[in-house]
Amino acid sequence: MLVSAKEMLNKAKAGKYAVGQFNINNLEWTKAVLLTAQENNSPVILGVSEGAAKYMCGYKTIVGMVNGIMEELKITVPVALHLDHGSYEGALKAMEAGFSSIMFDGSHYPIDENIAKTTEMVKLTSEKGLSLEAEVGSIGGEEDGVVGAGEIADANECKAIADLGVTMLAAGIGNIHGKYPANWKGLSFEALEAISNLTGDMPLVLHGGTGIPEDMIQRAISLGVSKINVNTECQLAFAEGTRKYIEAGKDLEGKGFDPRKLLAPGFEAIKATVKEKMELFGSVNKA
Ligand code: 13P
Repeated sequence: MLVSAKEMLNKAKAGKYAVGQFNINNLEWTKAVLLTAQENNSPVILGVSEGAAKYMCGYKTIVGMVNGIMEELKITVPVALHLDHGSYEGALKAMEAGFSSIMFDGSHYPIDENIAKTTEMVKLTSEKGLSLEAEVGSIGGEEDGVVGAGEIADANECKAIADLGVTMLAAGIGNIHGKYPANWKGLSFEALEAISNLTGDMPLVLHGGTGIPEDMIQRAISLGVSKINVNTECQLAFAEGTRKYIEAGKDLEGKGFDPRKLLAPGFEAIKATVKEKMELFGSVNKA
């Protein structure tokens, strides 16, 4: 059964570790993340962006797939199915379809509007017992080949959003989605510390987990980060595993073209990446 992310994140915050959010793209991805969580006795959050939801034929398809896999593979660790960077409309659709956790990303609105819309979301999600992630200070990233620097969130704005009763808060601290450029300045621990001091027990979320050096991840966790989002790194691992298989000509040997064989190396690569992250984040045996 899917659960809200509230309990697992409050436990992570208190225990000074982080739960990984791994974004999913298809059945193989979902199966790889869920099996790895079970094998490592770790809580896990499955992230689904609106684009990925469209690709996988909508929220209902995803809820059905995730519930089916969990039942069939006897997944008993806590699993939250979370809308990643949801719009207001997307959040309503995901809630209706049975997602157990919602991110409403109002970071691109002026702060007053972000507060107003997040307030409504707090009401809607708490009525259904779902967890809610809000965001202050947008996360940078690559768009049309241009890498935008991540914003640094204002600590007082973070406090204002945290006080609305959200479950977890994503704050921009110089983090970026996708690969980090060579001239990246690193995470702003000064900003993180200021946000952490003002928001107290609120679990903080670090987006753009791909490519952040291990020491920075550990320091971020020590300063109150309890959820870390990873997407691109699994995509890179999947692509590399698949490329090696094809470059070695294995799809041309026997029945090597069978998708169950062709996609196996990429599947194993996702599993290895997720395991590595769970160990780094400290969520192994915390289910
Ligand atoms: P990466 O793709 O950089 O790992 O970021 C994932 C993320 O933050 C999803 O919200």
